[in-house]
Amino acid sequence: MFGIPSAKGFDSTLALLRNPYGFISETCRALDTDLFETRILLQETICMTGAAAAEVFYSEDKLIRAGSMPGRIQKTLLGEGGVQGLDGAAHQHRKKMFMSLMGTERIAALQGTSLHMLDKYAPDWEARNEVVLYDEVREMLTRAVCAWARVPLDEAEVATRRAQLTALFQDAGALGPKHWRARLARHRLEKWAARLIQQVRDGELQPTQESALHIIATWRDLDGELLTPRVAAVELLNVLRPTVAVSVFIVQAAHALHRHPEWRQKLKDDEGQLEPFVQEVRRLYPFFPAVAARVKSDFEWRGYRFPKGYRVLLDLYGTNTDARSWDAPQEFRPERFHDREVTPYEFIPQGGGDHHRNHRCPGEWIAISQMKAFCSFFVNAIDYEVPDQDLDLETGELPPMPKSRFIMRNVRPRQ
Ligand code: HEM
Repeated sequence: MFGIPSAKGFDSTLALLRNPYGFISETCRALDTDLFETRILLQETICMTGAAAAEVFYSEDKLIRAGSMPGRIQKTLLGEGGVQGLDGAAHQHRKKMFMSLMGTERIAALQGTSLHMLDKYAPDWEARNEVVLYDEVREMLTRAVCAWARVPLDEAEVATRRAQLTALFQDAGALGPKHWRARLARHRLEKWAARLIQQVRDGELQPTQESALHIIATWRDLDGELLTPRVAAVELLNVLRPTVAVSVFIVQAAHALHRHPEWRQKLKDDEGQLEPFVQEVRRLYPFFPAVAARVKSDFEWRGYRFPKGYRVLLDLYGTNTDARSWDAPQEFRPERFHDREVTPYEFIPQGGGDHHRNHRCPGEWIAISQMKAFCSFFVNAIDYEVPDQDLDLETGELPPMPKSRFIMRNVRPRQ
């Protein structure tokens, strides 16, 4: 049909669930193509992989986001009415709100807050026999991002907000009770965040001008109206949730340091190696498998017809590990980033295209700067042992991490 090769079978939902990071690229390789059509959740879907496919995916005249996200992901991970589901001028305007939070000084301020947290947490790690890194980092990032966004957070509230923000990204793709836990977490977080927005508007809270809480509470859409409290809450959570989710990349970076110990010395000797190291972690460790859009109106690409309304999935992980763009793509080689300019379409762990015009993640600089700060701390400020534990990444989970959540033992200050 339409000349696009078809995957085997009537519906590929199970095959995708079983192999979320490999299904699209492996099917493409088997069919010797960049794209194929199938059904996902019974809906006609075109799956695509690779840099050329990413370039088409990010042409906003061809694909749109409205109605592209499955309801269960909106009710958990993303919320309703946020920037992810907007198109055209409305999207670009709302995106400005996020981009205005990402100035160099603001990114550095958040990094400084995390470094301060690390200094405060480290003596406690030294006093304990073992620490579970993922839990510690999520707690630090919950505190750091709330302080940075000027979101008040009582000491008694920290554990609850950490658990709720985690449920949004960790349980979103799950089935059964975990999915319902994520829905409940979203409900409670949106109520909390909407109250904060209202308090700013009523003058009860006066966050600093450059803070996320102030900017979101006072943002006006193209029609000149303030965002409804519920939509503003969704957007505030669009800052808090993913910043806590950077904890996954940080655990993956600690995992990479452990698996490739020669990089400890390299990072110690030369700060300039931190960036290629964290970029390689973002390229090779799986996080979000794919992003979804919908065909705006019929168009042709390379002789294939994309019918209006079809859902299109772009394979993020397969594109980051595509042998046409990357030598030995499954090998961990940070030096590949030394002298390499990457195009906006071949390295897309947080989406591709242009940050302002497209849906590419505005939080990339936060992710990179946080990962660099933590990696630098792991190699320069502390010594630790990594006791025996199963360090295989749990691929049944999204995002995959070691089941143990990375245990460190005998943490001590570096002499
Ligand atoms: C969008 C991944 C961190 C805020 C996205 C997208 C991905 C992504 C895959 C979708 C791109 C697309 O639809 O084309 C990640 C990962 C992160 C991360 C893996 C690391 C944990 C952050 C941070 C922030 C953030 C730290 C903000 C502080 C957003 C927002 C969008 C987005 C607001 C929607 C952008 C739009 O629709 O225009 N992210 N992200 N993310 N991310 Fe991130």
